[in-house]
Amino acid sequence: MKKPLQIAIDGPAASGKSTVGKKIAENLNYLFFDTGLMYRVATYAVLEQQCPLDDEGKLADIISLADIQLQNNSQTGETDVLLDGKAITDLLHLPQVDANVSLIAAIPAVRKLLTAQQRKIALQGKIVIAGRDIGTVVLPEAPLKIFLLASAEKRAERRYLENLRNGIPSDYDEILYNIKQRDQIDSNRNVAPLKPAEDAILIDTDSLTQNQVADKIMSLIDQ
Ligand code: CDP
Repeated sequence: MKKPLQIAIDGPAASGKSTVGKKIAENLNYLFFDTGLMYRVATYAVLEQQCPLDDEGKLADIISLADIQLQNNSQTGETDVLLDGKAITDLLHLPQVDANVSLIAAIPAVRKLLTAQQRKIALQGKIVIAGRDIGTVVLPEAPLKIFLLASAEKRAERRYLENLRNGIPSDYDEILYNIKQRDQIDSNRNVAPLKPAEDAILIDTDSLTQNQVADKIMSLIDQ
């Protein structure tokens, strides 16, 4: 049985795309590519340069000049992110990045730049690629498209526990608020809004563990 060369996993904030995507990639010996990290690093670069968010031209210039590198770290299993050669992985989930990333990701010029880079990487194959618009825009021809669903409360709880495990101080109510805000902006933007592709398989993860979700996707891959 031939395995799909590209597996697209989309879904709202903290729906488990990265955890599940990494497990699938590991099982298949594929690359895991988290496109959300690109929007986060772009946001970090813009905030670092104190660029006003309504100056779209300058913002796009900053992002197009940024040297963004994502490197899978085989020792930690995480993706190391470099901006202009500097490791910034630990800074990408700071509250100021969470608060601004969806605003920056809604800007058409930003999406144009990042989507082109993402598509180029995705076309190399043997890849599990996670995001919001992979099945609809970045790689609509992906042979397997998954869309993960979960209630905002469940997602906030998962993110809260994940932060605790990673030693990141956080507040459940703040996380829930941010998740709802991002969902709202991501779902309603004009370009590449968050929505399942017509041929995506929807998985409601509320009552499933991340391992059960990964097993479900593995069985779809094996079908
Ligand atoms: O990990 P989490 O689900 O919290 O978010 P993420 O995947 O790191 O994505 C951060 C933000 O980037 C999202 O809220 C979207 O605004 C944006 N994003 C996007 O617009 N398109 C993508 N393909 C991936 C992320």
